[in-house]
Amino acid sequence: MTQLANIRACVFDAYGTIFDFASAAARCTDIPGGRHAELTSLWREKQLQYTWLRSLQDRYADFWHVTSEALDFTLDSLGIAVPGLRDRLMDLYLTLSAFPEVHDTLRRLKQAGFTTAILSNGSPAMLDSAVRAAGLHPLVDAVLSADAVQVFKTDSRVYDYALQQLGMRADQILFQYPNDWDAYAASAFGMRVVWCNRYGQQHERLPGRPDHEVRSLAELPSLLGIPS
Ligand code: LAC
Repeated sequence: MTQLANIRACVFDAYGTIFDFASAAARCTDIPGGRHAELTSLWREKQLQYTWLRSLQDRYADFWHVTSEALDFTLDSLGIAVPGLRDRLMDLYLTLSAFPEVHDTLRRLKQAGFTTAILSNGSPAMLDSAVRAAGLHPLVDAVLSADAVQVFKTDSRVYDYALQQLGMRADQILFQYPNDWDAYAASAFGMRVVWCNRYGQQHERLPGRPDHEVRSLAELPSLLGIPS
């Protein structure tokens, strides 16, 4: 494990790091057969896959659109046709729950003088809504969307956009990601990276390497030397 020296900003992925994307389905009582976990997992898998495929084909559509297409695929695949469910799930994506430790972690980072930011594939409207609904706006200095560069992670233009907006070098930024492929890409770009491995995933076999691996963001302040 490497020392985290000279970090000025803590930048967070949104979905899976700050916001619990499983909370959308969890709030719907009418998903047949209790298939909440299955729906959440396929929806997420397709959502990410579509971002990569669209980026490879240079056919950008914003994350709201991609998320809705991924949901349509998911509901069809699982044979779920409950009236109104599709629109309700999409609406719930605008007010996802933040993970329990998020507020306290962001507060401690800000008190210690770190800049805090979100860098996400999410469209500006989606991110703005989720940040406000969770009451995070006083705790986040910048909300940065890949929409500004019209391509998704892991394209390096997205990470570069964060550098431009924050006015910092890559090695002054500590990036928090939930998926190993994200962590590796940011690390290969030159950012310092903490992989927030909430879901107990295995390491990817890709270029780059996270500096640290944690199970929740609650471990972050002590990694940065902030006294408890
Ligand atoms: C994001 C997704 C990829 O917030 O989790 O960018």
